[in-house]
Amino acid sequence: MSELDGPEALASDSLGLVRGIGDSVAAFDEARAAAEAVELIYPPSEISDVALCGMGGSAIAADLVLGAYRERIRRPMSVVRDYFLPGWIGERTLVVLSSYSGGTEETLTATSQAIDRNALTVAITSGGKLGTHYPVEEGVPVVPVAPGFQPRAALLRMLIPVVVILGRLEVLPPVGDDLDEARQTIAAAIATLGPDVPESENPAKQLARSLQGTVPLIWGSELTTPIAVRWKGQFNENAKIPAYASALPELDHNEICGFAGMPSELGSRAALLMLREPRQHRQVQRRFDLTRELVEPHVAKVASITADGTGALAKVLDLVLLGDYVSLYLALLNGVDPGPVEMIERLKGRLAETGYGRAPAPSS
Ligand code: PA5
Repeated sequence: MSELDGPEALASDSLGLVRGIGDSVAAFDEARAAAEAVELIYPPSEISDVALCGMGGSAIAADLVLGAYRERIRRPMSVVRDYFLPGWIGERTLVVLSSYSGGTEETLTATSQAIDRNALTVAITSGGKLGTHYPVEEGVPVVPVAPGFQPRAALLRMLIPVVVILGRLEVLPPVGDDLDEARQTIAAAIATLGPDVPESENPAKQLARSLQGTVPLIWGSELTTPIAVRWKGQFNENAKIPAYASALPELDHNEICGFAGMPSELGSRAALLMLREPRQHRQVQRRFDLTRELVEPHVAKVASITADGTGALAKVLDLVLLGDYVSLYLALLNGVDPGPVEMIERLKGRLAETGYGRAPAPSS
């Protein structure tokens, strides 16, 4: 029996992240209901553009939504991972303030600027300063999120409200059918990839095993570009290994050259994971194939992974769940506790030794 299958398999998962994915459908329903219930006072016709401010696990939710809806979104939208808001954000910008903890300093600094600019703000948070101080003082509508999770394990709790809010404010077309299909896809993925499915029948456990001792290089394109970034982050935070994400077609214009000079000790550890989906542009499909031919001699292994599902949101969440499970199983195989993120906590602790204050006035 595989060490990923026995009763002891999850012993090193101190925060229960693997079992936690099993609650995703309930999390999905809770998040959808909370976002549908929040009062939104902004008329859709007022909104000229959209910014989502957040970092890490709270920002990738918006990238994934943008990936899923990139062809159907009706307003320009950017994800801001910064202390400063870009100059174009103003009174007609819908600013979604996304911080699971509600205490992330970049997001809080951006929040104070959004409020100063009278932007149309909505917060998604489990509490912290974002959940109490700003809304109470400034009347910011808040989508409440259940506390007690690691931000990256609360992805659906942060992502579903983004979809619902953008749908309600007509930035996206009606999202009801997409959400229903995505919910089914999530349930199916858990049934196929969850910890009770033995490795012999479980593609996530098999992929994790094949990645032991490697540095994953994850490539996406179009809808799968942000999924590659999510996979990278999950390998970093859950398995505590280096991993890198890139996107086609851009990487064909620069990164591809670096493989020619890949030191053999690095190449013998590199595992290239190509995240594909059948609707990608015909030239993108060719690029995946042709670039693979050129790069394969310089890396240890290449795997091509294709999204399941009909709708874009379902495809995105299908691949996200696969990456989440793979990174967690890899942690277990490596004897690593996937839960705690000590490096992030240490850094945040050091930064908290001094205050960060409100944003300084922008330089002219
Ligand atoms: O996964 C993590 O813990 C981080 O990437 C956090 O999401 C990031 O530091 C931002 O914190 P928060 O999501 O609480 O705003």
